[in-house]
Amino acid sequence: MPTFERIQGAVYCDGLSLAELATRFGTPLYTYDGGAIAARYREVEDAFRDYPHRLHYALKANSTLGIARLLRSLGAAADANSVGEIDVALRAGFAPAEIVFTGVGKTDAELERAIGLGLRSINAESEGEIERIDAIATARGVKARVAVRVNPDIDAKSHPHISTGLKTNKFGVAIADAREMCLRMRGRSGVQIVGLHSHVGSQITQLEPLQRAAEALVALAAELRDAGVAVEHLDIGGGLGIPYEGQRVPTAAEYAASVLPIVRESGLNLILEPGRFLVGQAGMLVTRVVDIKPQAGGKLFVIVDAGMTELMRPMLYGAYHRIEHALAVDRPAAICDIVGPVCETTDTLGKDRSLPRPEVADLLVVFDAGAYGAVMASNYNRRPMPAEVLVKDGEATVIRRRQTFDDLIALES
Ligand code: LLP
Repeated sequence: MPTFERIQGAVYCDGLSLAELATRFGTPLYTYDGGAIAARYREVEDAFRDYPHRLHYALKANSTLGIARLLRSLGAAADANSVGEIDVALRAGFAPAEIVFTGVGKTDAELERAIGLGLRSINAESEGEIERIDAIATARGVKARVAVRVNPDIDAKSHPHISTGLKTNKFGVAIADAREMCLRMRGRSGVQIVGLHSHVGSQITQLEPLQRAAEALVALAAELRDAGVAVEHLDIGGGLGIPYEGQRVPTAAEYAASVLPIVRESGLNLILEPGRFLVGQAGMLVTRVVDIKPQAGGKLFVIVDAGMTELMRPMLYGAYHRIEHALAVDRPAAICDIVGPVCETTDTLGKDRSLPRPEVADLLVVFDAGAYGAVMASNYNRRPMPAEVLVKDGEATVIRRRQTFDDLIALES
């Protein structure tokens, strides 16, 4: 999926040069290629076309309103992980019946809100949560649509911090207990069990764990049907990885070809919750070099104006993001540690990268930053949230303006 191109050495996003965008909007700057997101959406949609399904975009990957609206305009539904994300979804125009609500630790206040809205499903994480849903819904005289999040005890073979499907992870109801629990819950007046859900991890680059999770859901649905509980849908979560390091990753078509034969047997509607796969490669973080310092051994510290406050992934997961010059630079290569301005040694975007020797004021591009980038930004060191720009049909729109100091201090007295 080409999300950018180089014209005479300069990186362009859908016809606009990143250097020009950086001059117009300042740095650090997130830029998203709307056409690339649309292409990706269509790729997944096409792959699943011949089976009843709906893509519920996982807002947690990037919930900036402009991105949520774009996905809605493409036909996506939404997966929300908090009331904040439900509110973003509503603001972006998603109907309550197009929203599924996942999340460990939903508070009563959150459940009240979700039940009142009548979402497509609340993906419940435990028996206790279902009991609380039942009590709230019964008091309101309604029946809440609940899907049971199952923990299938499957190793997603991804980074341990983003694996969610092992029994040692906090997520879901243990697969061994799920059947009995569903049977205990079926008579509840405030709850209708409409689905089964699983999400075994993120940045998954092998299909086997995703297949095994789908098999577990299909088998459980069949057992429940035999016991008189008929669910409407299977929600197989998100998790498909992207090639941060240029590695071979499954395509949407390969994913569909591996899970559809399994799901087809059930005849149930399918829900998918892709996040990273839709937006990850469409986002770039543009940052300017602030200072250069020599290191022992001839390496350079390249100090840029973005760091862990803008993109946390390298520091939190040791994640790799490609970093390159935004413009053609004809200089000899230097080995660089590209570091941010935050007062932490871990504030390193890229280590031991070979780049044409950077100089102060150069622009660098951190690629594949569209998912879990801006959403995980923070104000640490009192740094303002970066601006975000969506480029579509050759036009750039600021979808989130840069935070000012007044914005930042507004809640304090
Ligand atoms: N559904 C559920 C229930 C999830 O927990 C997640 C992600 C998704 C869908 C979307 O997964 P995706 O398709 O994006 O892999 N901050 C980490 C990723 C955390 C993912 C959490 N859950 C990172 O930067 O890699």
